[in-house]
Amino acid sequence: MNDILDLIVSRRNIKYFLPKFVSWEKITRILDAGRHAPSSGNVQNWKFIVVYEADQKHALAEACYEQYDLVMAHTLIVICAEPEKAERYYGLRGERLYTTQNCAAAAQNMLLEAHSLGLGSAWIGAFDEDAIRSLLGIPDEVRPQAIVAIGHPKDIPPKPPKYPLETVVYIGKWRSRFKDISKYMNDTSTIIARKLGGAKESVEKGASSIAGKVKEKIVRSRSASQGKEEVHTKEKETP
Ligand SMILES: Cc1cc2nc3c(=O)[nH]c(=O)nc-3n(C[C@H](O)[C@H](O)[C@H](O)COP(=O)(O)O)c2cc1C
Repeated sequence: MNDILDLIVSRRNIKYFLPKFVSWEKITRILDAGRHAPSSGNVQNWKFIVVYEADQKHALAEACYEQYDLVMAHTLIVICAEPEKAERYYGLRGERLYTTQNCAAAAQNMLLEAHSLGLGSAWIGAFDEDAIRSLLGIPDEVRPQAIVAIGHPKDIPPKPPKYPLETVVYIGKWRSRFKDISKYMNDTSTIIARKLGGAKESVEKGASSIAGKVKEKIVRSRSASQGKEEVHTKEKETP
């Protein structure tokens, strides 16, 4: 199996798609990946609307502030949140924060599954929510959160710059930066390995001394029982 990090790093947000068919089996796998995302208390307060008809895709693209290239995607998956479900368990935090995070996790799972299937995908967040609602008959209490576009990529855009680890990682506390994170991690793992090595040595020493004592006991008890046998034989020999 490929390291998931390779998939994560090589995934790109695809702008232009080829007018090529994507099997429904693949679309189903992508939806399944979304369904298996983590969610607060496993509330799974999402619904995924699959849109594949050209007219409907065109209308959605318009509602996405005229991102018409989306029409070429084979399928648009509209990820809708049901905030009330999360609000019931977690109050305002559930409604506002967890709901968004749950749907974001589902979206990311879909993007990665699409990429692992050799397809292109795009995360679309810029749209007129009410327009999307009325196009798809989504009730007021449900919030369209993201649209995942799936298709065959026309081209793979270059990797946009990503901040280095040193910029985005603090260790231990806010603003505690390390110049070379991988060196820091290496040093830390060396220290831990050394400590583990020491622990292993003392466990091995302890084990071998226990084994020695057990062996000694066995030898002693054997020779004691052999002694008894001898006595027994002698007794037998004696008429
Ligand atoms: C919340 C969110 C909203 C986004 N909205 C759009 C969008 O409306 N249109 C679009 O083309 N890309 C959109 N993107 C994709 C980003 O532009 C893209 O992920 C970013 O440029 C980094 O590129 P990469 O995904 O290839 O690493 C969105 C991404 C996120 C996470």
